[in-house]
Amino acid sequence: MADQGMIDIENLSITFGRGSRKNHVVRGIDVSVRQGECFGLVGESGCGKSTVLGAIAGRVKEWSGRIAIGGEQLDPARRSQAQRRRQQMVFQDPFGSLHPRHTIGRILTEPLSINRLDDQDGRVDRALEQVGLPKRFRFRFPHQLSGGQRQRVAIARALILEPEILLLDEPTSALDVSIQAEILNLLKDLRQRSGLTYVLVSHDMAVVAHLCDRIAVMKDGQLVEVASRQDMIAGDVTHPYTQMLREGSLGYRPQGVPQTA
Ligand SMILES: Nc1ncnc2c1ncn2[C@@H]1O[C@H](COP(=O)(O)OP(=O)(O)OP(=O)(O)O)[C@@H](O)[C@H]1O
Ligand SMILES: [Mg+2]
Repeated sequence: MADQGMIDIENLSITFGRGSRKNHVVRGIDVSVRQGECFGLVGESGCGKSTVLGAIAGRVKEWSGRIAIGGEQLDPARRSQAQRRRQQMVFQDPFGSLHPRHTIGRILTEPLSINRLDDQDGRVDRALEQVGLPKRFRFRFPHQLSGGQRQRVAIARALILEPEILLLDEPTSALDVSIQAEILNLLKDLRQRSGLTYVLVSHDMAVVAHLCDRIAVMKDGQLVEVASRQDMIAGDVTHPYTQMLREGSLGYRPQGVPQTA
């Protein structure tokens, strides 16, 4: 296939529950994310962003349609170890996602053991270095770290398996504003150095516009528009919902409308 992407999604639908409890959360999404691209996903709370990431990651199994990673088609019910390793997820809450009674070293070693990888000490040291943390941090516990440092550990844990894709679910929204930029810059540098492909979910259009090459806007389980960063910033978008999100989040106003106090 000439235009095969890193992540190819066709007619993705996700339904939780059955009968009267049936909840059709994602409705027929088509999207293709290129290798090395940072692809943003925005939309209001509950529109299905995390569910889509979960389906790509293999955490959500209730999907139908087609998901292919690097051309390899995935089965909703079953993933091999190798298929799971190709994409890793980073979550919003760096405290909740790290085991409170495990040292950072143990947290980082665990995925290596599961995947039976050798040179564990070397890999832990390199992962810490990649995210700008000193090697001695492997002996610490999560509560001995700041929020930003914990999120660095969560990123290191995702990187340690040398994935091709990082799935980032609101990776900075639980952090202080001053720390958010630090983590965003780290993610930006990592992608430049490693050629990783990102899918970044955020409710903050400014964050997405800062980092992403293209931005998909999701509403009620559907993609209403995919725009380039340039078009999003310039306001060259077609769907009224995109326009609304953009104005709300980037603080832009339609031309000629004076700013009110
Ligand atoms: N495991 C599940 N079982 C049943 N319903 C679910 C499950 N996971 C998510 N949902 C429902 O799917 C919908 C979309 O949830 P999702 O977490 O994907 O939203 P989101 O866009 O990530 O929202 P937010 O911005 O608040 O994180 C919600 O209505 C949610 O209640
Ligand atoms: Mg979510």
